[in-house]
Amino acid sequence: MNKPTPGNDEFVDRFMQRQAAERYRDRYRSGRHAKVNQRERACLHQLVAGLGPLEVSLDLPCGTGRLADILAKASRKVILADSSPLMLELAKEELGETPAEYLQTNAERIDLSTGSVDLILCHRLLSHIPAAEVRARIMKELARVTRRYLVISCYPPGIRTRIKGLLRRVFPGSRPAKQPATLKEYLDLANAVGLRLVGRHTLRPAPFRADFVVFEKANAK
Ligand SMILES: C[S@@+](CC[C@H](N)C(=O)[O-])C[C@H]1O[C@@H](n2cnc3c(N)ncnc32)[C@H](O)[C@@H]1O
Repeated sequence: MNKPTPGNDEFVDRFMQRQAAERYRDRYRSGRHAKVNQRERACLHQLVAGLGPLEVSLDLPCGTGRLADILAKASRKVILADSSPLMLELAKEELGETPAEYLQTNAERIDLSTGSVDLILCHRLLSHIPAAEVRARIMKELARVTRRYLVISCYPPGIRTRIKGLLRRVFPGSRPAKQPATLKEYLDLANAVGLRLVGRHTLRPAPFRADFVVFEKANAK
């Protein structure tokens, strides 16, 4: 596997233990996160239905594969990709008989050729990466690999995260709050790599709206 660049190491390492991978999978099975999971699945379902049949879809990072079956149904072929072999292992278990390919790769340097997929779903990655230059590098790679659509999730901090951030400022010495990217940053990055905005699908309503943001290659047929 390609070695991750500093700036993303901490987030890559977080999912490199089987226990951490299982914790992530189980988190979305009960309570508040189960509702979030349902909402994200319904939203993605509606989004891909509006795009028509797809040849190849890529779920990067796929995590434990909780959304990949939706892409699998909408495409002739689905590729699940992640930097963590443990997350991929659990994704394989989750998908069972669903036909899929699995790829261990880093979003900063994706092991796929240029224009080789019709749609990339990049969900819950960019908002966890603190370094703007790493986000820009990933966006460029995603734009290289897709020949048509790119879907990214834009999650501005919700109420809980904002409260945590406030507490961190009040109690110095604790870990500094993350500075996640804004929708404006995503739009600027997309524009710089030849992608245009074609849709927004709401994941969380006001006051801190979160969306799946759909981009299309400006030169896509
Ligand atoms: C928060 S999980 C999201 C997974 C999935 N998209 C979901 O919503 O359930 C983040 C995933 O990103 C992977 N990851 C972190 N940095 C990565 C990178 N640079 N390239 C590829 N995968 C990465 C982690 O291994 C982990 O599986």
